[in-house]
Amino acid sequence: MNRKWWKESVAYQVYPRSFKDSNGDGIGDLAGVTSKLNYLKELGIDVIWICPMYKSPNDDNGYDISDYQEILEEYGNMEDFDRLLDEVHKRGMKLIIDLVLNHTSDEHPWFMESRSSKDNPKRDWYIWRDEPTNWESIFGGPAWAYDSQTKQYYLHLFSQKQPDLNWENPEVRKALYEMVNWWLDKGIDGFRVDAISHIKKDFSDMPDDIDRAYIPAWEKMMNVEGIQPLLAELRDETFAKYDIMTVGEANGASVNDIGEWISEEDGKFNMVFQFEDMGLWSADSKHGVDVRKLKEIRSRWQKGVEGKGWNALFIENHDKPRMVSTWGNDRQYWRESATAFACMYFFMQGTPFIYQGQEIGMTNAPFEEIEHYNDVRTHNLYFYKRATGMMHEDVMTLVKATSRDHSRTPMQWDASPYGGFSTARPWLGVNPNHDWLNVEAQKHDPYSVLSFYKQMIWLRKHMDVLVYGRYELVELGHESVFAYTREDEHEKVLVVANLAQHACWWDEPEDGTLLLANYKEIDPNQLFPYEARVYKVKLNQ
Ligand code: GLC
Ligand code: CA
Repeated sequence: MNRKWWKESVAYQVYPRSFKDSNGDGIGDLAGVTSKLNYLKELGIDVIWICPMYKSPNDDNGYDISDYQEILEEYGNMEDFDRLLDEVHKRGMKLIIDLVLNHTSDEHPWFMESRSSKDNPKRDWYIWRDEPTNWESIFGGPAWAYDSQTKQYYLHLFSQKQPDLNWENPEVRKALYEMVNWWLDKGIDGFRVDAISHIKKDFSDMPDDIDRAYIPAWEKMMNVEGIQPLLAELRDETFAKYDIMTVGEANGASVNDIGEWISEEDGKFNMVFQFEDMGLWSADSKHGVDVRKLKEIRSRWQKGVEGKGWNALFIENHDKPRMVSTWGNDRQYWRESATAFACMYFFMQGTPFIYQGQEIGMTNAPFEEIEHYNDVRTHNLYFYKRATGMMHEDVMTLVKATSRDHSRTPMQWDASPYGGFSTARPWLGVNPNHDWLNVEAQKHDPYSVLSFYKQMIWLRKHMDVLVYGRYELVELGHESVFAYTREDEHEKVLVVANLAQHACWWDEPEDGTLLLANYKEIDPNQLFPYEARVYKVKLNQ
């Protein structure tokens, strides 16, 4: 297998609005990120992915871009960005940025021109129709918005303020590639490519019966036939000319067509984020995850990608509630479940991503009222569910279970009033548990979640087998135990994680050397609730 720097890296995702505020306005900013680079370096991070920091009216917190080559004022300016990039490089780390190519803001000059009249040269840069389809947008409600000035509808798969670009138009593609190359020439190290599986739409057999309820027409809006040539062009005109790292957000891509996406010969990206196991937890199931299915899906991806391309490994991001509050147990087994799930995904084959705060086990926010939430998708959910007649309390149950704001609360640096994130009241409430759950409290505690992450990262850096070794699922006879090995010609490692809150019998391997454990005392004959261990074992075992 080809060796690459991005395969050997550990990545960390920063949500700039919530990471660190440097000037006391309650909003995170670029100088704030720069001020925390030593923390990331000490943790062992190699690559930082920063979520959108471009000029934006902030309808979707920066994923609605109004100028691709300017910085959002609240975050600073281009000099702050250049300084950040420089300081990242000085520390031997890399910086990848979020690339949003499926849509722009409705306040982007391209769209303002496009909407100005039907014969504007940029009319065709977006997707306009006399009659809408009955597609539901990914954020709820219709995917088409009526424009009264020109009496047509434009398509928006996400919010109404995020009109979809028309990728069929070569001028659009050319303008996007120029922008991408402008950033690459600046010296950034790659991209996380947002919502890229949506750029091609399938308008065949459009239902004309638009009175029917809006339907989530996923199959027509993601990974649609004909997307690959567009992605290939994007790669050839931009990424392929640089030694960078690219991660596509590929909702709808399956292991079966993974070669086209990420194979070393013909892949369009180095790796993709897959979405298949996101659904294993649902609003109704409250806590816990179906470990059997989790094993099936993750192993299928491990084996399907092995030898062909590379995986992007993650369990949290800015679009999901916190893992320890959903899959895990954020009360009785907070530390144990945070570390057990960490151990489960971190040693698989692929590049691990850590989402900010995950490394200290941050939990869901206890927001009770709809006003406490900020996320556009959450507000849409509330609005459209209420419009169908659903009771306030029932909608709030859904909101509390699924809101993206759970992962967007300010980073908890210390126990001070705003968690050390800011000196002013932050844009989104700080989780009150920051009084005990914070970086400061965990830094010097060898048994903290943070110390566990440091040990995981250290191990991965010191054992080649944990990067390049083959993956094999091991069934130990317990549904709740996720165990696997990593193996190369020289060594073999066994990872065992009990992902449930009951103990189970299990005999540790003979002649195994314990490398990592999340319990202080271990019992050679059983696994405690959410116990995880990593052993070096004999090659032929
Ligand atoms: C991606 C992002 C999400 C954003 C959406 C629209 O899914 O991760 O945060 O809202 O794209 O750009
Ligand atoms: Ca600020």
